[in-house]
Amino acid sequence: MSKRIVHIVGTGTIGEPLIGLFSHFKKELGIDEVTFHKRTPLVDERAKVHAMVRKGATLCTDERSVEKFEALGHKISYTTQEALERASVVIDCTPVGNKLKPQYVETSGPKVFMAQGSELGFGQPYARGINDESLNLDERFVQIVSCNTHNICVLLKTLGAAPGQDMGVTNGRFLCLRRATDISQADSFIPSPEVGKHADPRFGTHHAHDAWRVFQTVGKDLKLFSSAVKLPTQYMHVLHFSIELDHSTSKEQLISQLRENPRVALTEKRSSTLVFSFGRDHGFYGRILNETVLPPDTLHVSEDGRTVTGFCFTPQDGNSLLSSMACALWYLDGKDPRDRLQVLRPYMFEEI
Ligand SMILES: NC(=O)c1ccc[n+]([C@@H]2O[C@H](COP(=O)([O-])OP(=O)(O)OC[C@H]3O[C@@H](n4cnc5c(N)ncnc54)[C@H](OP(=O)(O)O)[C@@H]3O)[C@@H](O)[C@H]2O)c1
Repeated sequence: MSKRIVHIVGTGTIGEPLIGLFSHFKKELGIDEVTFHKRTPLVDERAKVHAMVRKGATLCTDERSVEKFEALGHKISYTTQEALERASVVIDCTPVGNKLKPQYVETSGPKVFMAQGSELGFGQPYARGINDESLNLDERFVQIVSCNTHNICVLLKTLGAAPGQDMGVTNGRFLCLRRATDISQADSFIPSPEVGKHADPRFGTHHAHDAWRVFQTVGKDLKLFSSAVKLPTQYMHVLHFSIELDHSTSKEQLISQLRENPRVALTEKRSSTLVFSFGRDHGFYGRILNETVLPPDTLHVSEDGRTVTGFCFTPQDGNSLLSSMACALWYLDGKDPRDRLQVLRPYMFEEI
């Protein structure tokens, strides 16, 4: 049987924890080898690379950079092209997946190439638990949608259907209150809230458009609109939502639907720093792997029962990490990875 090799391109905010997750749970996930590509040899990132290698992953880089990495004390196991050819699954965690795609197209070995949230058009959009039924394993390119897109999708799917019924959403409006930078980033500080343009004529910002694309893969054409504001914080994104339904519901009913979805965490906390801090203490690499964290106290149902309004937190990037892992296992095993993913259950919380 051929070896099951996961290759991750990029060691940034998404790449680093993904390398850690695959290395740590290699045995449980049935992975033989984890390799990763780093582009730039940096003395201030030497410790990070050593730490990932100690976890069991092996370093790859471009031929022209091998000497510079070796001068920093790193061992290069494969060049970029060698690593791509021998991989079973390639997960691009760079902001330039589309730019790198031509090289992937030319590489015959891997069953699948994934890129992340910013890489619109890279491949079929995927979010675990939202559109698994549409995942076409014969198609080699997948875009793991962004963390906020996951959050919008899980709200629509969980709050938008009466029990036992299909989704009945007539309109969904979302305001993404976004952190300006991640805690792994030391730039892009903003001194005050910065409002975003509505550049998309139909959807406002790309967030609603991305969610619409995910639901389109399962035959739904939803009416969605989003806006975005950047806040001077490094902690979690917050999402304000207002969803109109074609049926009437109650707050109690919605809370029960939220409780039934294992990907939703409920919380009595209303500060993103407290939710983030819980993740730092109890998550994997500080990550909560739920799709959303929702304070039920913020949930409001209109008097006619047809409009649901509230706030929730987007778990930093944990939902994109989980979908990347689920997608890798879908392609490796050729079936729903539900059983293998049980190993990640301790990082999905009912309550935060
Ligand atoms: N940050 C989040 O919370 C988050 C959440 C969900 C999804 N995403 C998505 O994940 C993707 C990556 O975001 P990120 O925040 O993880 O980025 P990041 O922290 O800035 O890291 C980017 C990584 O990409 C590598 N890279 C950049 N250009 C490259 C190139 N031409 N060839 C090879 N490697 C290259 C960099 O390598 P060197 O440093 O070695 O040059 C770095 O390791 C984006 O699509 C983003 O939308 C991010």
